[in-house]
Amino acid sequence: MANAVITGGTNGIGRSLAERLAREGHRVAVVGRSAVAPAGVELIRGDLSTVAGTAAVAGEVVSRFDVVDHLVLGAGRFTRRRVVTADGLEHMFALSAVSRFALVERLLLALERSAAPVVVSLCGVAGPRGPGIRWDDLSLSRGFRAFRAVSQGARAADLLGAGFADRHPDSAVRYVLHNPMFVDSGLGAQVGGVRGRALDVVARLFARSTADAADQVHRFLADPPAERLTASRAGTPIDLARPEFDRAAAARLYTVLDDITASAR
Ligand SMILES: NC(=O)c1ccc[n+]([C@@H]2O[C@H](COP(=O)([O-])OP(=O)(O)OC[C@H]3O[C@@H](n4cnc5c(N)ncnc54)[C@H](OP(=O)(O)O)[C@@H]3O)[C@@H](O)[C@H]2O)c1
Repeated sequence: MANAVITGGTNGIGRSLAERLAREGHRVAVVGRSAVAPAGVELIRGDLSTVAGTAAVAGEVVSRFDVVDHLVLGAGRFTRRRVVTADGLEHMFALSAVSRFALVERLLLALERSAAPVVVSLCGVAGPRGPGIRWDDLSLSRGFRAFRAVSQGARAADLLGAGFADRHPDSAVRYVLHNPMFVDSGLGAQVGGVRGRALDVVARLFARSTADAADQVHRFLADPPAERLTASRAGTPIDLARPEFDRAAAARLYTVLDDITASAR
């Protein structure tokens, strides 16, 4: 039986995964701001949009778990307007990059105690195609567009995986980048308005269920890849030689995130 920690496990794909793992008898904790966890699952309540909130969550995880076998990074939130966190960061970047970076760094010891540690990041895996990271204005203070924020967050989460082995050359962690593609998890409520309602209708018709998307993540946990880094979109492997996985860019991101997390302490 494994110990699993799932951020974003209070809703959508993460919740379906948590329920499945708990049914199988694993020990599961979900992280979210909500007050309620699925039955049989522990709740670690916290806000991952700030460095302090992420540190508090990591502290709670290590106080409860000596060993973390599976860490699933699924917390995310779409906003049409620019939202700035208490750390002064654009909030999609904070959730997709800063928090994921800080959580993995802080939980690394607990992960390394596992016989087969796996980190699964639900991320962009080189999509959506778009402007990517705006290095000179990470908080997107100029000319904010929601698509730009989504693109930046997705690309940053991908780069965290791309740079992990350079950052931690001796780690046993298998880092899995995975984009579940279009999943019916209620994104319409986040988009809001007529567009949001239309999106929910389209999702009900064409998107995969959260249980189906959770099944796919479950496979990575039940049978971890041999390679240290893998990337896939739905069931399709993504070539890691693509420029979006550039290791120099990944190293640059790690340096930026070191600075952000150090100055926010
Ligand atoms: N659904 C899709 O079609 C799709 C496609 C590609 C990629 N993805 C990615 O896959 C992941 C899961 O997607 P989903 O659609 O299943 O998500 P979802 O249903 O929208 O759920 C988002 C989760 O993130 C948590 N969360 C949001 N803000 C948080 C914060 N500040 N602190 C802590 N937790 C926070 C929420 O918990 P609380 O509300 O309790 O805080 C919730 O559990 C996301 O990262 C998403 O970007 C999804």
